Amino acid sequence: MTSVIPIASGKGGVGKTLISSNLGYQLAKSGKTVILVDLDLGASNLHTMLGIKNHNPGIGDLLTRSEKKLENLILPTSHQKLYLIPGDTLIPGAANPNYFILQKIIRSLRKLTADFVLLDLGAGSHSSVVDLFLTNSAGIMVLIPEPTSVLNAYSFIKTAVYRMLLRSFKARSEERNTIQAYMSQKMEGTERSIDDLIEILAKENPQIGDELRNKLSGFYPRIIINQIKDQSELNIGARLRQITMKNLQINMQYIGVLPYDQQVSRSIIQRKLYAETQPESLFIQSLQNIANQIIQQGPTPEIQLYEGNEDLIDVVSDFQG
Ligand SMILES: Nc1ncnc2c1ncn2[C@@H]1O[C@H](COP(=O)(O)OP(=O)(O)OP(=O)(O)O)[C@@H](O)[C@H]1O
Ligand SMILES: [Mg+2]
Repeated sequence: MTSVIPIASGKGGVGKTLISSNLGYQLAKSGKTVILVDLDLGASNLHTMLGIKNHNPGIGDLLTRSEKKLENLILPTSHQKLYLIPGDTLIPGAANPNYFILQKIIRSLRKLTADFVLLDLGAGSHSSVVDLFLTNSAGIMVLIPEPTSVLNAYSFIKTAVYRMLLRSFKARSEERNTIQAYMSQKMEGTERSIDDLIEILAKENPQIGDELRNKLSGFYPRIIINQIKDQSELNIGARLRQITMKNLQINMQYIGVLPYDQQVSRSIIQRKLYAETQPESLFIQSLQNIANQIIQQGPTPEIQLYEGNEDLIDVVSDFQG
């Protein structure tokens, strides 16, 4: 069974691409078949970290429809069992993908044949990034020990949780209207919790309350803390776990800590994987621990959701008569 693991952060520049590429390498070294997918649309650079030139078609070609099949984009790398689907290297400005094509890409990602499909996502909380993160119940959030990183990670997870609840119901349903109204009230500053929202929805139909609580408990993104310089910085992950538990009722999991390592940037400049040039470094040894845990945890469930903006599909079909 293929495990699709999205890798996100909220804040940019924290190490998603470095981690995706080297984690992919470590998983492949452990005998797993891995496909790395560059989904940082508009700013793709995963190929560079792998030392691959940017003259191959990538996800951007699916967006412009010059290529129809995701699997036709798979490239070998210079490492056994490690493959790459490049981003939009030939098509600058593909940062806002067409919604319908993105849904098609998500369906195709789930059908790829590999042990692991790692998705290197872009920064920010745009709905396309959040929808990619919601392909799996246990995506990875990368944090660094800075308050802005934790705040952005929290906003990302909060957006993901509300979007997950919204997409648990069909387009144009009463429930979606209720959730949307609740979300806009929240934006105006009323501090109510996710529990209040579930209570409101369960009033009409108690079964819905149980279903949504199950959905929340089945959503457990995994945290990696990167660029640690000092043990005291470790509590940053505990803080994120606490606030997501208290405010969003989800139970994020820790899977590891990676040290700050000055040598990393040298390997990026040389376009070589750090795991290849410095396999004995603490950074790579720690990443191997994370890879072992991921293998041990095995495939994590997909999240079953309705497609996000089906309302748009209705609009298109109304328009087409
Ligand atoms: N543990 C680390 N030690 C030292 N430097 C690091 C570490 N992790 C990341 N970096 C540095 O941070 C830079 C950004 O890393 P990377 O490109 O992987 O981030 P990103 O989250 O993918 O960024 P973006 O949001 O732009 O896609 C790298 O060039 C690297 O030099
Ligand atoms: Mg990146």
